[in-house]
Amino acid sequence: MIKDKLERQFEYLRISVTDKCNFRCIYCMPKEIFGSKHQFLKKNELLTYEEIIEVAKTLKPFGLKKIRLTGGEPLLRKNIEYLVEGLKKDALIDEVMITTNGSLLTKEKLISLKKGGLDSVTISLDASSKKVRNIMNPVNSNHVLVSEAIDNVITIFNSVKVNMVVIKGINDKEIMPMLEKFLDKNIELRFIEYMDVGESNNWSLDNVFTSKETKDLIEKYFSLKKIPDLIDSTSEKWAIDNYTLNIAFISSISKPFCSECNRGRLSANGNFYTCLFSEKPYDFSSYFRNKENNLSFNNYFTKVWSNRDDQYSQLRFVSKPGKNKNKKNKVEMSYIGG
Ligand code: GTP
Ligand code: 5AD
Ligand code: SF4
Ligand code: SF4
Repeated sequence: MIKDKLERQFEYLRISVTDKCNFRCIYCMPKEIFGSKHQFLKKNELLTYEEIIEVAKTLKPFGLKKIRLTGGEPLLRKNIEYLVEGLKKDALIDEVMITTNGSLLTKEKLISLKKGGLDSVTISLDASSKKVRNIMNPVNSNHVLVSEAIDNVITIFNSVKVNMVVIKGINDKEIMPMLEKFLDKNIELRFIEYMDVGESNNWSLDNVFTSKETKDLIEKYFSLKKIPDLIDSTSEKWAIDNYTLNIAFISSISKPFCSECNRGRLSANGNFYTCLFSEKPYDFSSYFRNKENNLSFNNYFTKVWSNRDDQYSQLRFVSKPGKNKNKKNKVEMSYIGG
């Protein structure tokens, strides 16, 4: 167990297994920027599954309990079920989860992921109507497959989380259709405030549709009851009277959750970041890949986590010259893994 400067324990690692994606969501990888000239990581730069499992094993004694596989699109990596199996059965991680756009999540894939020990699946879907979906993601918007994937996850894993990033004036009119579409399903539909991650999405506060606005809208039609949240959760959960659907709000802009943040992030090429908005990479690959570093990894990681004082979301609107304001080199979401 290890604590940072703000007394936050390290328990959770989000691993981006690739920076590539077959979608181009406007809030994450706008197609104008992530076009044919964009330099993605080369195959030989990516950590192998063996190396990732080694990282997990090494971090477990520090308190690591949960791993979420992300990307880019994590299912673009071949046989990711082997990685899941290694993390569960070799590195003995309590909970291994995945966040995916669902487009490659066939029934066969789901069955092998379940067999490998995967605990849960989260699927991103930003609109019910094809027209709006095509605006949110103008590339490869294969809704039929994603809808099928959502149903298949429910069959195989019993429930599924669905992530909807809400952008004012673009898909906020889809909040009620999305909710109505899923009312009778075993789903947690999560409304996510649009965040200022990376430097490509042209984020502006004016485009944020807040959780309060979403909740007020929903409460015009449905009655909501609070469900207790896990202490380290990013979301606030609510049940809807008379329906199986639960909803949740992820309010990184209007109600940041940095004070409980137990997460580290690992990029596909082995850089560790102590915050989603961090600019400072810690090079794990020199320990796990090149083995060229003579210093003990345990001492190194102890230093990295004990010196951590990130709370970007909490300080987002606080004016402190030189700190958190006007950052210019924020890492892209597709690289750091959400
Ligand atoms: P759980 O593991 O179930 O708590 O899911 P999660 O909400 O952490 O993960 P998911 O991949 O579903 O991400 C949902 C949203 O929360 C995305 O927009 C993420 O970028 C955002 N998110 C996840 N972790 C953090 C974090 O530590 N800080 C901030 N600001 N946003 C986060
Ligand atoms: N703001 C909020 N959420 C985002 N995601 C990607 N980019 C952003 C952003 N700018 C979400 C994706 C996915 C999760 C990992 O992060 O929709 O569900
Ligand atoms: Fe791909 Fe997910 Fe980013 Fe969309 S949000 S471009 S699906 S990584
Ligand atoms: Fe954690 Fe950084 Fe997100 Fe705050 S902004 S919750 S410190 S990752």
